[in-house]
Amino acid sequence: MFWPWQILSRLFSLNFTYKIDFDFDYKRILKEYNTVKNKLPIIEHPSIGIDHDGGWQVVSLYSETGDSVTAGKNADIDTKPTEIIKYFPYTHEVIKELFKKYDCQPRRIRFSVLKSKKKISWHRDWDESMEFSNSRLHLPLIVNDKVRSNLCHEKFKWNPGGLFYGDYSFPHQIVNNGLEERLHLIIDLKDPKNLFIDSEKFYVEEIKRKKYKEIIILMFNVFYKYPIIYFQAFLRRLPLRYLKTHDTHQKILHKN
Ligand SMILES: [Fe+2]
Repeated sequence: MFWPWQILSRLFSLNFTYKIDFDFDYKRILKEYNTVKNKLPIIEHPSIGIDHDGGWQVVSLYSETGDSVTAGKNADIDTKPTEIIKYFPYTHEVIKELFKKYDCQPRRIRFSVLKSKKKISWHRDWDESMEFSNSRLHLPLIVNDKVRSNLCHEKFKWNPGGLFYGDYSFPHQIVNNGLEERLHLIIDLKDPKNLFIDSEKFYVEEIKRKKYKEIIILMFNVFYKYPIIYFQAFLRRLPLRYLKTHDTHQKILHKN
């Protein structure tokens, strides 16, 4: 089944994901994680009941407070390493290399676990996009063949060993139908320079994404996120201005 926003993004031939040219040894990161896995204070992602059904857990390597159990974003500020970074010397080297190579500042950096037979429902992270000078990079560590990931219509299957950018300000979902958990390290960077191998292609596609963004987000809000509110507004003949304001309020409330 395709949702209206997926049909539109396919129709406009939009791309949302890019592979980043960066070398590292994912097996060493995974080894560090597995060595201390049982000691980590993993928490349920705070958006439980909104975006997921209890199968999404996170633990922070960099957070706003410096605590590994802080996962939220409350301000557009640099983050700092958490107390568990001492268990991840190689991973930290990789992270610092990213700051250096792309001349940028850290935001949240988290291990993200999606349990077997669990899902992260359709949602969007309104400012997690280069449009706002933010880049959310995914470094897959454990994946299985039955993980289904979508950014609008685009299905992406990322294997360990790579590093990937996605524009998460567009609707996305992840479903893990496999028997194994899915583990990614999610690295948020502020204002990275020269991140893309083919920057010209990226910016041409970025212009195209921006061109159709409003209609895509409107479809997402009307058919999925706030159908009742939009239906009520339609019955009351409220102007589009009201609907946009409603979405802006949600931007403030929805911080994952
Ligand atoms: Fe998300």
